[in-house]
Amino acid sequence: MKKTRLCQLLGIEYPIIQAPMAWITCAELAAAVSNAGGLGTIGPEAGVKTQEESKDMKIVEGGLREEIRKVKTLTNRPFAVNFPIGWGKQQIFNEQRVAAAIDEGIPVAIVSMGSPEMFTRRFHDAGIKVLHIVISVKQARKAEEAGVDAVVCIGYEAGGHIGADEAPTFVLVPQVADAVKIPVIAAGGIADARGFVAALALGAEGVYLGTRFMATCECNAHPNMKQAVLEADDTATVAFGRRTGISRCLKNDYTACHMKMEASGASFDEIREYERSGNDLGGWRRVPAAIVAGNIIHGSAACGAIAGMINEIIPAREVIRRMVEDYKAVVDKL
Ligand SMILES: Cc1cc2nc3c(=O)[nH]c(=O)nc-3n(C[C@H](O)[C@H](O)[C@H](O)COP(=O)(O)O)c2cc1C
Repeated sequence: MKKTRLCQLLGIEYPIIQAPMAWITCAELAAAVSNAGGLGTIGPEAGVKTQEESKDMKIVEGGLREEIRKVKTLTNRPFAVNFPIGWGKQQIFNEQRVAAAIDEGIPVAIVSMGSPEMFTRRFHDAGIKVLHIVISVKQARKAEEAGVDAVVCIGYEAGGHIGADEAPTFVLVPQVADAVKIPVIAAGGIADARGFVAALALGAEGVYLGTRFMATCECNAHPNMKQAVLEADDTATVAFGRRTGISRCLKNDYTACHMKMEASGASFDEIREYERSGNDLGGWRRVPAAIVAGNIIHGSAACGAIAGMINEIIPAREVIRRMVEDYKAVVDKL
């Protein structure tokens, strides 16, 4: 199969990246993907066990250090760590997480939800490659100017936080590929070799998969969440939350109520209050309530639109093996 510049840049065999998913992308999954020739990623809250722990900077930092050390015992291949820059408290935590990751000697950083200027120089000075998440051509240009090594284009189909401007993967990837010189990675709606080949045809030099890796043996998502991914059909997800931050999740009571509030003109504060309420969630916030604690009715079950195509839980290496083996068949058919 075709080796792209991304393989050389990251020192990987196949240009397939396992996307970070908060809470559920830990050392075992990252190492399994890297051992299979892709790039595995440790997500935020990896190594953190409860909502209470996630508020304690020392535990978050310690958890990250532990996960990095664990990955290194499980693979000698490159892996990545995700840094969602975010806002408020998250920003303070990021300072600590970035310092810890540099100290532990990670090979690749994936930076999302914030300015590419914030950490790129620091990572580069430490010899760490930087992939930056973008949702528009403008952001991609800005990231390139800031010196990042590659951009990841997140299309509207993707699970979790997405761009409010709604550019889907098929629209975004070729325009970004035309606009920048650095390698472009396609994300959102990719789960098999057909999506892989299509992404490369659009000008991407790699693919980035979240939802497909949620339904793997090594992912520590709650069994209810994995089952919901298997049961999802082509219309199972919805992009919602224009006021408070748009994301794509499985449709459920929570998304229905949230959308009803928005449609009826509820204020930002009222919607925030509803998001943060949930006495029925056992102390979890909405996203971990679904993906960690398994409440897929009242939690925010972040999930990509491609879930309808995912019908079995398989080892992570099998996801990569199938994509690589089927790649040739797809190309031959074309
Ligand atoms: C459950 C879940 C949690 C996510 N958490 C994060 C996160 O912590 N940081 C981040 O940058 N992206 C996060 N994402 C987005 C993914 O990294 C990725 O962009 C997305 O899954 C790609 O689209 P796909 O699901 O169609 O493969 C999350 C996605 C899901 C489904």
